[in-house]
Amino acid sequence: MAKTGIFYGPEKGSVDRVAHMVAKEFGEGNADLISVKDKDPKLLENYDKIIIGVSTVGMTNWNSEHIRNEWDSFSAGIDKVNLKGKDVAIFCLGDQVTYPEHFVDALGWMYDKLKPLGANIVGFVDPDDYDFTDSEGLRNGKFVGLPVDEDTEPEKTEERVKNWVAMLKNDFGF
Ligand SMILES: Cc1cc2nc3c(=O)[nH]c(=O)nc-3n(C[C@H](O)[C@H](O)[C@H](O)COP(=O)(O)O)c2cc1C
Repeated sequence: MAKTGIFYGPEKGSVDRVAHMVAKEFGEGNADLISVKDKDPKLLENYDKIIIGVSTVGMTNWNSEHIRNEWDSFSAGIDKVNLKGKDVAIFCLGDQVTYPEHFVDALGWMYDKLKPLGANIVGFVDPDDYDFTDSEGLRNGKFVGLPVDEDTEPEKTEERVKNWVAMLKNDFGF
């Protein structure tokens, strides 16, 4: 079985917690957890199956000049990474009650960044299970990854992660 790389950030919050849940679902020894803080994005090329974990926090996005986000240094060099032939799935933390018009926007920002690098993006999710007004994470009526709302629906996280990883194992050819 090809090893999966779970690249996540920031550390110590909801993204971190969910990244560990995803790794647990893949089973011991099947997935490496890699915090993107101070890491070289070339590390992505070590894996053929990749999971990216992010959160949506206001104005922070790939083009932002905010320096507090742990993704910034990693994303700065990501344009030189070749993801051709690699399966990539994204999960994104958000809050659909406080930010109903921007729910998990970072899912879409991530998709737009990774797709041109040749990535085959998998793990799309139906939006019916969520209650929001708008999201940049949608393409053709589907979320381009898994939205997780630890702020207002933490009780749904475990099942969402379980179902999504089951789908990914299939997409990844496990
Ligand atoms: C300043 C701030 C801005 C946020 N903006 C959004 C947003 O635009 N859309 C959204 O879905 N969630 C938004 N959130 C909610 C976070 O994505 C959510 O709390 C997430 O679980 C944070 O995970 P982290 O602590 O691992 O970064 C925001 C949270 C904060 C603190």
